[in-house]
Amino acid sequence: MTTIKVALLGFGTVGSSVYQTIQSRRSKFERLIGKKVEIVGVLIQDETKQRNIADGILVTSSFEELLAIPEIDVIIEAINGIEPGAGYLSRALEKGIHVVTANKELLAHEGQSLRETAAKGHAQLKFEAAVAGGVPIIGTLQQLLQVNEVSNVEAILNGTSNYILTEIAENQVGFQAALHSAQKHGYAEADPGNDVDGWDAFYKLMILCELLLGKQPDWTQVSRRGIRGITLADIQVVETAGWRIKHIASLQVKEEKAQLRVEPMAVPEGHPLYEVSGVDNAVSIQGDLAGNLKLQGPGAGALPTASAILEDFVQLYKESDNRNRSIDASILAEDSNRLQDWLATAPSIPKTAAVKQRWKGKQADNNAYLVSATEGELEKLLQAGKICNFFRLAGAGREIADTVPILI
Ligand SMILES: NC(=O)c1ccc[n+]([C@@H]2O[C@H](COP(=O)([O-])OP(=O)(O)OC[C@H]3O[C@@H](n4cnc5c(N)ncnc54)[C@H](OP(=O)(O)O)[C@@H]3O)[C@@H](O)[C@H]2O)c1
Repeated sequence: MTTIKVALLGFGTVGSSVYQTIQSRRSKFERLIGKKVEIVGVLIQDETKQRNIADGILVTSSFEELLAIPEIDVIIEAINGIEPGAGYLSRALEKGIHVVTANKELLAHEGQSLRETAAKGHAQLKFEAAVAGGVPIIGTLQQLLQVNEVSNVEAILNGTSNYILTEIAENQVGFQAALHSAQKHGYAEADPGNDVDGWDAFYKLMILCELLLGKQPDWTQVSRRGIRGITLADIQVVETAGWRIKHIASLQVKEEKAQLRVEPMAVPEGHPLYEVSGVDNAVSIQGDLAGNLKLQGPGAGALPTASAILEDFVQLYKESDNRNRSIDASILAEDSNRLQDWLATAPSIPKTAAVKQRWKGKQADNNAYLVSATEGELEKLLQAGKICNFFRLAGAGREIADTVPILI
C-alpha cells in the first residue's frame, strides 16, 4: 500500500485536533483512500512549547526545513492571519503539493492568486473549514452549482455574533454584558473586533462569492455592518413585532447582477434563519431546482473544524475533477439611494417621516416600523437621533405590500 505524506502548518486548537483525528483513525483513512496516511512534519512558532507529537515526526519553526522533507503530498494549514501562511501555501502549491486550509482571512485576501498557483502546479486547494467550520457549505454549493442556478444565499457565519445577539435577547442584557459572556465561554477573543464588526463574516462571504461567481467585488462597495450598535431595546422592539435580529451575510443574484452584504437584518418568523441561536452557524441556499436548503451546525471548534478539513483531505483522493462552474453575474455596488424595505426602531414616529401605517409592536416607548426608505435617509434619521436603528429585511425578493415611503 502506498503512503500519503502529510505536513501540518499550525498545532493549535485546529491543528492538534487534525493530528489526533488522523492518528486515531488511520485504518478508516486506509479503507477510504486505499493508501496509508503518515504525518511527516508539523510547523509551529514556539519551539519551547510541550506538545503531544509522536517521535519521528519533524516539529519545526522553519518552513524551509519542513518543505525539505521529500515527497510531501498534502499540507494542512491552520495558522492565523494572512502571512506567513499565504507565502507558504503558494510555495507548496507551486511544488504540486495539495493544500487544505481553514484560514478564512488568508483565503479572502489571497484565494484567487492561490487558485492560479494551484492550477499551474497541478495541485488542489481545498477550504471547506474556512467557512462555517463543520457545516459543509462549500461542498454543498459546489454540488448544487453543477445543475442548479443559485440565486440567493443568506447565512449566519459568525458564531460569536450570533451568540451575543441570542444572549441579549434571552437574558435581557446589554451588548457589553453579552460580549463578556461570550469571552467567558471562550467564544470571543479578548479583541472581538474581527467578529463583532463583521470582518469574519465578511471574509467568509468573499470566499463564497469567489466560489459562486468566480470573482470578488471591490471590498469598499460591500455593505459591512457589525453588531456593536445593537441595543437590548432594539431587540425587544423587533421581537415584540414578531421578528428577530440576526447578523447575516447575503449574496443575491438577479438578472445577472449580484448584491453582497454583511449586516444585522430583521428576520421574520418562518425564515430559515429565524430559529438559529447560540454559537451555531447556518446557511440558507435557494437553488432553482433544489428549492430552499438549510444547513446548520457548529461553525467553529476543534472537532467540527477538523471534520471539515479531513473530509476535504479524503476528497482529494476521491475526486478526479474538481473544476467548478460559476454563475455569470456582475457584482453590484451598494446603492444608498435605492428605495428598500426596512424595519426601523424608534421611540415615536419620526417627526420628519410620514409613516402612515404603523406595524405590529405598538408600545408607548418602543415601536417598530416597517418602512420603505433609502439607506441614506435612514442613516440621516439615525444620526439625528430620530430613530434608534434600522434593519434590512431578510428573505430575498420579499414583496412587502404594507409599507409606505418614509419622507425626509
Ligand atoms: N478555532 C476554530 O474553531 C477555527 C474554526 C475555523 C477556522 N479556524 C481557522 O484555523 C486557523 C487556526 O486557528 P486555531 O484556533 O487553531 O489557532 P491557534 O489555536 O491560535 O493555533 C495557531 C497555530 O499556528 C501556529 N502559528 C502561528 N503563527 C505561526 C507562524 N508564523 N509560523 C508557524 N506557526 C505559526 C501556532 O504556533 P504555536 O503553537 O507555536 O503558538 C499554533 O500552533 C485560523 O486561521 C482560524 O481562522 C479556526
